[in-house]
Amino acid sequence: MIARISGTGSALPAKTVSNADLAMTVDTSDEWITSRTGISERHIAVDGEYTSTFAVEAARRALSMAGISPEDLDLIILGTVTPDFPFPSTACIVQSELGAHKAVAFDVSAACSGFIYALSIADSFIRSGQFKKVLLIGAEVLSRVVNWKDRNTCILFGDGAGAAVLEASRDQHGLVSTHIFSNGSCWDLLYQPGSGSRNPAANPATDPASYFIHMEGNEVFKHAVRAMEEAAQAALDANGITSSDLTLFIPHQANRRIIDAIAKRLDLDSGRVFVNLHRYGNTSSASIPIALDEANRQGRLKSGDLLLLDAFGGGFTYGSALIRW
Ligand code: ACO
Repeated sequence: MIARISGTGSALPAKTVSNADLAMTVDTSDEWITSRTGISERHIAVDGEYTSTFAVEAARRALSMAGISPEDLDLIILGTVTPDFPFPSTACIVQSELGAHKAVAFDVSAACSGFIYALSIADSFIRSGQFKKVLLIGAEVLSRVVNWKDRNTCILFGDGAGAAVLEASRDQHGLVSTHIFSNGSCWDLLYQPGSGSRNPAANPATDPASYFIHMEGNEVFKHAVRAMEEAAQAALDANGITSSDLTLFIPHQANRRIIDAIAKRLDLDSGRVFVNLHRYGNTSSASIPIALDEANRQGRLKSGDLLLLDAFGGGFTYGSALIRW
Protein backbone atom coordinates (compact mmCIF):
# COMPACT_ATOMS: atom_id res chain seq x y z
CA MET A 1 0.00 0.00 0.00
CA ILE A 2 1.16 3.51 -0.77
CA ALA A 3 -0.16 6.77 0.72
CA ARG A 4 -1.63 8.84 -2.12
CA ILE A 5 -2.44 12.52 -1.63
CA SER A 6 -6.03 12.86 -2.86
CA GLY A 7 -6.76 16.41 -1.64
CA THR A 8 -5.06 19.54 -0.37
CA GLY A 9 -6.39 22.69 1.27
CA SER A 10 -5.25 25.83 3.03
CA ALA A 11 -6.73 28.70 5.03
CA LEU A 12 -5.27 32.06 6.01
CA PRO A 13 -6.53 34.87 8.21
CA ALA A 14 -8.09 37.68 6.17
CA LYS A 15 -6.02 40.33 7.94
CA THR A 16 -2.60 41.10 6.47
CA VAL A 17 0.29 43.04 8.02
CA SER A 18 2.83 44.51 5.59
CA ASN A 19 6.46 45.37 6.24
CA ALA A 20 5.46 49.03 6.11
CA ASP A 21 2.88 48.36 8.85
CA LEU A 22 5.60 46.80 11.03
CA ALA A 23 7.94 49.73 10.41
CA MET A 24 5.37 51.91 12.17
CA THR A 25 5.71 49.90 15.41
CA VAL A 26 9.34 48.67 15.49
CA ASP A 27 12.64 50.12 14.22
CA THR A 28 12.77 48.33 10.85
CA SER A 29 12.08 48.96 7.17
CA ASP A 30 10.56 47.22 4.17
CA GLU A 31 14.01 47.26 2.56
CA TRP A 32 15.68 45.51 5.55
CA ILE A 33 12.99 42.84 5.88
CA THR A 34 12.74 42.14 2.15
CA SER A 35 16.48 41.94 1.58
CA ARG A 36 17.23 39.82 4.71
CA THR A 37 14.23 37.49 4.57
CA GLY A 38 12.26 37.85 1.31
CA ILE A 39 9.07 38.46 3.30
CA SER A 40 6.71 41.30 2.24
CA GLU A 41 3.61 40.59 4.30
CA ARG A 42 2.05 38.02 6.60
CA HIS A 43 -1.53 37.02 7.55
CA ILE A 44 -2.40 37.58 11.19
CA ALA A 45 -5.33 36.15 13.18
CA VAL A 46 -7.75 38.54 14.87
CA ASP A 47 -9.69 38.09 18.12
CA GLY A 48 -11.93 35.05 17.91
CA GLU A 49 -9.65 33.23 15.44
CA TYR A 50 -7.59 30.31 16.76
CA THR A 51 -5.32 27.61 15.38
CA SER A 52 -8.34 25.29 15.07
CA THR A 53 -10.24 27.96 13.08
CA PHE A 54 -7.76 27.73 10.21
CA ALA A 55 -7.12 24.01 10.68
CA VAL A 56 -10.81 23.19 10.22
CA GLU A 57 -11.14 25.44 7.15
CA ALA A 58 -8.03 24.00 5.48
CA ALA A 59 -9.24 20.47 6.31
CA ARG A 60 -12.69 21.09 4.78
CA ARG A 61 -11.06 22.28 1.55
CA ALA A 62 -8.76 19.25 1.41
CA LEU A 63 -11.65 16.85 2.11
CA SER A 64 -13.76 18.53 -0.55
CA MET A 65 -11.00 18.11 -3.14
CA ALA A 66 -10.53 14.47 -2.13
CA GLY A 67 -14.29 13.92 -2.32
CA ILE A 68 -14.49 12.14 1.01
CA SER A 69 -16.60 12.94 4.03
CA PRO A 70 -15.19 13.50 7.55
CA GLU A 71 -16.96 10.34 8.81
CA ASP A 72 -14.73 8.29 6.50
CA LEU A 73 -11.51 9.45 8.18
CA ASP A 74 -9.54 6.92 10.24
CA LEU A 75 -6.89 9.30 11.56
CA ILE A 76 -6.19 13.03 12.02
CA ILE A 77 -2.64 14.23 12.76
CA LEU A 78 -2.08 17.93 13.35
CA GLY A 79 1.34 19.57 13.57
CA THR A 80 1.46 22.71 15.68
CA VAL A 81 3.43 24.57 18.32
CA THR A 82 0.57 26.97 18.94
CA PRO A 83 -2.33 24.69 19.88
CA ASP A 84 -5.64 26.14 21.02
CA PHE A 85 -4.86 24.76 24.52
CA PRO A 86 -1.94 22.84 26.12
CA PHE A 87 -4.48 20.02 26.18
CA PRO A 88 -6.62 18.55 24.72
CA SER A 89 -4.91 18.32 21.37
CA THR A 90 -6.08 20.69 18.67
CA ALA A 91 -6.56 17.58 16.51
CA CYS A 92 -9.35 16.49 18.90
CA ILE A 93 -11.04 19.89 18.53
CA VAL A 94 -10.78 19.59 14.74
CA GLN A 95 -12.18 16.03 14.89
CA SER A 96 -15.19 17.33 16.81
CA GLU A 97 -15.79 20.34 14.55
CA LEU A 98 -15.54 18.26 11.39
CA GLY A 99 -17.69 15.44 12.79
CA ALA A 100 -14.93 12.93 12.02
CA HIS A 101 -16.30 10.64 14.74
CA LYS A 102 -14.34 7.49 14.04
CA ALA A 103 -10.93 9.18 13.48
CA VAL A 104 -8.13 8.80 16.02
CA ALA A 105 -6.78 12.33 16.54
CA PHE A 106 -3.53 13.67 17.97
CA ASP A 107 -1.08 16.56 17.66
CA VAL A 108 2.60 16.35 16.73
CA SER A 109 5.05 18.80 18.27
CA ALA A 110 7.94 19.14 15.81
CA ALA A 111 7.81 22.90 15.17
CA CYS A 112 8.36 23.79 11.50
CA SER A 113 8.91 20.10 10.65
CA GLY A 114 5.47 19.17 12.02
CA PHE A 115 3.89 18.43 8.66
CA ILE A 116 6.81 16.25 7.50
CA TYR A 117 6.73 14.33 10.80
CA ALA A 118 2.96 13.90 10.36
CA LEU A 119 3.48 12.63 6.80
CA SER A 120 6.02 10.13 8.05
CA ILE A 121 3.72 8.83 10.80
CA ALA A 122 0.76 8.60 8.42
CA ASP A 123 2.91 6.80 5.85
CA SER A 124 3.77 4.10 8.40
CA PHE A 125 0.14 3.64 9.45
CA ILE A 126 -1.00 3.38 5.83
CA ARG A 127 1.79 1.01 4.79
CA SER A 128 1.03 -1.22 7.79
CA GLY A 129 -2.63 -1.36 6.79
CA GLN A 130 -3.84 -0.01 10.13
CA PHE A 131 -5.46 3.13 8.68
CA LYS A 132 -6.67 3.91 5.16
CA LYS A 133 -7.93 7.51 5.13
CA VAL A 134 -5.86 10.10 6.94
CA LEU A 135 -6.15 13.86 7.34
CA LEU A 136 -2.90 15.75 7.96
CA ILE A 137 -2.86 19.39 9.04
CA GLY A 138 -0.17 21.94 9.83
CA ALA A 139 -1.70 24.91 11.63
CA GLU A 140 -0.33 27.84 13.62
CA VAL A 141 -1.26 31.13 15.20
CA LEU A 142 2.33 32.19 15.86
CA SER A 143 1.31 35.83 16.23
CA ARG A 144 0.17 34.96 19.79
CA VAL A 145 3.69 33.87 20.85
CA VAL A 146 5.63 36.58 19.02
CA ASN A 147 6.93 39.64 20.84
CA TRP A 148 5.66 42.45 18.62
CA LYS A 149 8.25 44.78 20.14
CA ASP A 150 11.19 42.56 19.12
CA ARG A 151 12.26 43.42 15.57
CA ASN A 152 14.52 40.34 15.44
CA THR A 153 11.56 37.96 15.49
CA CYS A 154 8.26 39.78 14.86
CA ILE A 155 9.05 40.35 11.19
CA LEU A 156 9.44 36.64 10.46
CA PHE A 157 6.25 34.88 11.40
CA GLY A 158 2.66 34.54 10.18
CA ASP A 159 -0.53 32.55 10.86
CA GLY A 160 -2.44 30.00 8.78
CA ALA A 161 -3.04 26.33 8.07
CA GLY A 162 -2.58 23.76 5.34
CA ALA A 163 -3.99 20.26 5.04
CA ALA A 164 -3.74 17.11 2.95
CA VAL A 165 -5.85 13.96 2.70
CA LEU A 166 -3.90 10.72 2.30
CA GLU A 167 -5.55 7.52 1.12
CA ALA A 168 -4.21 3.99 0.88
CA SER A 169 -3.68 3.19 -2.77
CA ARG A 170 -2.33 0.31 -4.81
CA ASP A 171 -0.97 2.43 -7.65
CA GLN A 172 2.50 3.96 -7.84
CA HIS A 173 1.46 7.54 -7.08
CA GLY A 174 2.01 8.83 -3.55
CA LEU A 175 4.57 9.02 -0.79
CA VAL A 176 7.76 7.35 -1.99
CA SER A 177 9.73 7.86 1.22
CA THR A 178 10.09 10.07 4.27
CA HIS A 179 13.22 10.79 6.29
CA ILE A 180 12.93 12.49 9.68
CA PHE A 181 15.66 13.57 12.10
CA SER A 182 16.05 15.28 15.49
CA ASN A 183 18.95 17.11 17.14
CA GLY A 184 17.87 17.87 20.69
CA SER A 185 21.27 19.29 21.65
CA CYS A 186 20.20 22.60 20.09
CA TRP A 187 16.77 22.87 21.69
CA ASP A 188 17.57 26.21 23.35
CA LEU A 189 18.46 28.02 20.11
CA LEU A 190 14.79 28.26 19.16
CA TYR A 191 12.08 27.81 21.77
CA GLN A 192 9.31 29.31 23.86
CA PRO A 193 10.72 29.57 27.40
CA GLY A 194 7.48 30.27 29.26
CA SER A 195 4.11 28.54 29.83
CA GLY A 196 5.37 24.95 30.13
CA SER A 197 6.21 23.08 33.35
CA ARG A 198 9.59 24.88 33.78
CA ASN A 199 8.11 28.37 33.80
CA PRO A 200 4.40 27.85 34.39
CA ALA A 201 1.98 30.56 33.35
CA ALA A 202 0.30 30.40 36.75
CA ASN A 203 3.56 31.11 38.64
CA PRO A 204 3.90 34.83 39.53
CA ALA A 205 7.71 34.41 39.30
CA THR A 206 7.47 33.63 35.57
CA ASP A 207 8.58 36.57 33.45
CA PRO A 208 5.77 37.39 30.98
CA ALA A 209 8.47 38.07 28.34
CA SER A 210 9.27 34.34 28.45
CA TYR A 211 5.99 33.53 26.71
CA PHE A 212 7.48 34.79 23.46
CA ILE A 213 9.62 32.91 20.91
CA HIS A 214 13.32 33.02 21.74
CA MET A 215 15.57 32.58 18.71
CA GLU A 216 19.31 32.77 18.00
CA GLY A 217 18.72 33.81 14.39
CA ASN A 218 22.22 33.46 12.99
CA GLU A 219 22.75 30.02 14.53
CA VAL A 220 19.34 28.82 13.41
CA PHE A 221 20.11 30.02 9.89
CA LYS A 222 23.34 27.99 9.65
CA HIS A 223 21.82 24.83 11.12
CA ALA A 224 18.77 25.15 8.85
CA VAL A 225 20.82 25.22 5.66
CA ARG A 226 22.97 22.23 6.67
CA ALA A 227 20.10 20.15 8.03
CA MET A 228 17.73 20.76 5.12
CA GLU A 229 20.47 19.80 2.69
CA GLU A 230 21.10 16.60 4.70
CA ALA A 231 17.40 15.70 4.75
CA ALA A 232 16.99 16.36 1.02
CA GLN A 233 20.11 14.37 0.19
CA ALA A 234 18.89 11.46 2.33
CA ALA A 235 15.76 11.25 0.18
CA LEU A 236 17.72 11.40 -3.07
CA ASP A 237 20.29 8.82 -1.95
CA ALA A 238 17.72 6.38 -0.58
CA ASN A 239 15.88 6.39 -3.89
CA GLY A 240 18.94 6.34 -6.15
CA ILE A 241 18.07 9.64 -7.82
CA THR A 242 19.63 13.10 -8.12
CA SER A 243 18.16 16.58 -7.89
CA SER A 244 17.89 16.63 -11.69
CA ASP A 245 15.08 14.05 -11.34
CA LEU A 246 12.95 16.41 -9.24
CA THR A 247 10.07 18.30 -10.84
CA LEU A 248 9.48 20.59 -7.87
CA PHE A 249 11.20 21.27 -4.55
CA ILE A 250 8.91 22.62 -1.81
CA PRO A 251 11.03 23.77 1.13
CA HIS A 252 9.85 25.12 4.47
CA GLN A 253 9.22 28.83 3.92
CA ALA A 254 11.32 30.53 6.61
CA ASN A 255 13.72 32.83 4.82
CA ARG A 256 14.44 33.41 1.14
CA ARG A 257 18.19 33.29 1.79
CA ILE A 258 17.87 29.86 3.47
CA ILE A 259 15.87 28.58 0.49
CA ASP A 260 18.34 30.00 -2.04
CA ALA A 261 21.32 28.50 -0.17
CA ILE A 262 19.75 25.03 -0.14
CA ALA A 263 18.71 25.27 -3.79
CA LYS A 264 22.29 26.16 -4.68
CA ARG A 265 23.71 23.25 -2.67
CA LEU A 266 21.25 20.88 -4.34
CA ASP A 267 21.90 22.39 -7.78
CA LEU A 268 18.23 23.27 -8.31
CA ASP A 269 17.32 26.12 -10.66
CA SER A 270 14.80 28.64 -9.33
CA GLY A 271 12.06 27.41 -11.70
CA ARG A 272 11.88 24.15 -9.72
CA VAL A 273 11.80 25.75 -6.27
CA PHE A 274 8.41 26.75 -4.88
CA VAL A 275 8.44 30.02 -2.94
CA ASN A 276 5.48 31.87 -1.45
CA LEU A 277 6.95 33.22 1.79
CA HIS A 278 6.81 36.81 0.52
CA ARG A 279 3.05 36.68 1.14
CA TYR A 280 2.88 34.60 4.33
CA GLY A 281 6.17 34.81 6.25
CA ASN A 282 7.14 31.75 8.26
CA THR A 283 3.98 29.84 9.25
CA SER A 284 5.97 26.99 10.85
CA SER A 285 4.21 23.63 10.43
CA ALA A 286 1.66 25.23 8.06
CA SER A 287 4.21 26.47 5.55
CA ILE A 288 4.74 23.28 3.54
CA PRO A 289 1.06 22.22 3.30
CA ILE A 290 0.05 25.78 2.32
CA ALA A 291 2.73 25.74 -0.39
CA LEU A 292 1.70 22.25 -1.53
CA ASP A 293 -1.93 23.36 -1.81
CA GLU A 294 -1.00 26.47 -3.76
CA ALA A 295 1.18 24.52 -6.17
CA ASN A 296 -1.65 22.00 -6.58
CA ARG A 297 -4.38 24.59 -7.18
CA GLN A 298 -2.13 26.52 -9.57
CA GLY A 299 -1.95 23.36 -11.71
CA ARG A 300 1.80 23.04 -11.19
CA LEU A 301 1.57 19.38 -10.12
CA LYS A 302 1.11 16.86 -12.94
CA SER A 303 0.61 13.13 -12.65
CA GLY A 304 4.01 11.45 -12.38
CA ASP A 305 5.85 14.56 -11.16
CA LEU A 306 8.46 13.97 -8.47
CA LEU A 307 8.21 16.45 -5.55
CA LEU A 308 10.57 16.83 -2.65
CA LEU A 309 9.32 18.49 0.54
CA ASP A 310 12.02 19.61 3.00
CA ALA A 311 11.68 21.13 6.47
CA PHE A 312 13.64 22.32 9.48
CA GLY A 313 12.46 23.67 12.83
CA GLY A 314 12.84 24.06 16.57
CA GLY A 315 14.08 21.00 18.42
CA PHE A 316 15.97 20.89 16.17
CA THR A 317 13.78 18.75 13.95
CA TYR A 318 14.18 18.25 10.22
CA GLY A 319 13.06 15.95 7.47
CA SER A 320 12.04 15.38 3.88
CA ALA A 321 9.31 13.62 1.95
CA LEU A 322 9.57 12.42 -1.64
CA ILE A 323 6.23 12.23 -3.48
CA ARG A 324 5.33 10.78 -6.88
CA TRP A 325 2.29 12.92 -7.82
N1 ACO B 1 15.08 45.56 11.05
C1 ACO B 1 16.24 46.24 11.04
N2 ACO B 1 17.36 45.78 11.61
C2 ACO B 1 17.29 44.58 12.23
C3 ACO B 1 16.12 43.83 12.27
C4 ACO B 1 14.98 44.36 11.66
N3 ACO B 1 13.81 43.72 11.65
N4 ACO B 1 16.37 42.69 12.94
C5 ACO B 1 17.65 42.71 13.29
N5 ACO B 1 18.22 43.86 12.87
C6 ACO B 1 19.58 44.31 13.05
C7 ACO B 1 20.29 43.62 14.18
O1 ACO B 1 19.98 44.26 15.40
C8 ACO B 1 21.74 43.80 13.79
O2 ACO B 1 22.14 45.10 14.14
P1 ACO B 1 23.61 45.34 14.73
O3 ACO B 1 24.56 44.90 13.68
O4 ACO B 1 23.60 46.81 15.00
O5 ACO B 1 23.67 44.50 15.97
C9 ACO B 1 21.69 43.71 12.27
O6 ACO B 1 20.34 43.96 11.88
C10 ACO B 1 22.13 42.37 11.71
O7 ACO B 1 21.47 41.36 12.45
P2 ACO B 1 21.64 39.83 12.13
O8 ACO B 1 20.91 39.02 13.14
O9 ACO B 1 23.09 39.51 11.90
O10 ACO B 1 20.91 39.75 10.72
P3 ACO B 1 20.81 38.52 9.75
O11 ACO B 1 21.27 38.92 8.42
O12 ACO B 1 21.38 37.26 10.36
O13 ACO B 1 19.25 38.29 9.64
C11 ACO B 1 17.51 36.89 10.49
C12 ACO B 1 18.50 37.98 10.82
C13 ACO B 1 16.61 37.36 9.37
C14 ACO B 1 16.68 36.60 11.74
C15 ACO B 1 18.29 35.63 10.05
O14 ACO B 1 19.30 35.32 10.96
C16 ACO B 1 17.39 34.45 9.89
O15 ACO B 1 16.51 34.43 9.07
N6 ACO B 1 17.63 33.36 10.66
C17 ACO B 1 16.82 32.20 10.57
C18 ACO B 1 15.75 32.35 11.54
C19 ACO B 1 14.49 31.65 11.15
O16 ACO B 1 14.15 31.50 10.01
N7 ACO B 1 13.80 31.21 12.19
C20 ACO B 1 12.54 30.63 12.01
C21 ACO B 1 12.40 29.37 12.71
S1 ACO B 1 13.48 28.15 12.13
C22 ACO B 1 13.02 27.89 10.65
O17 ACO B 1 11.87 28.03 10.37
C23 ACO B 1 14.01 27.49 9.69
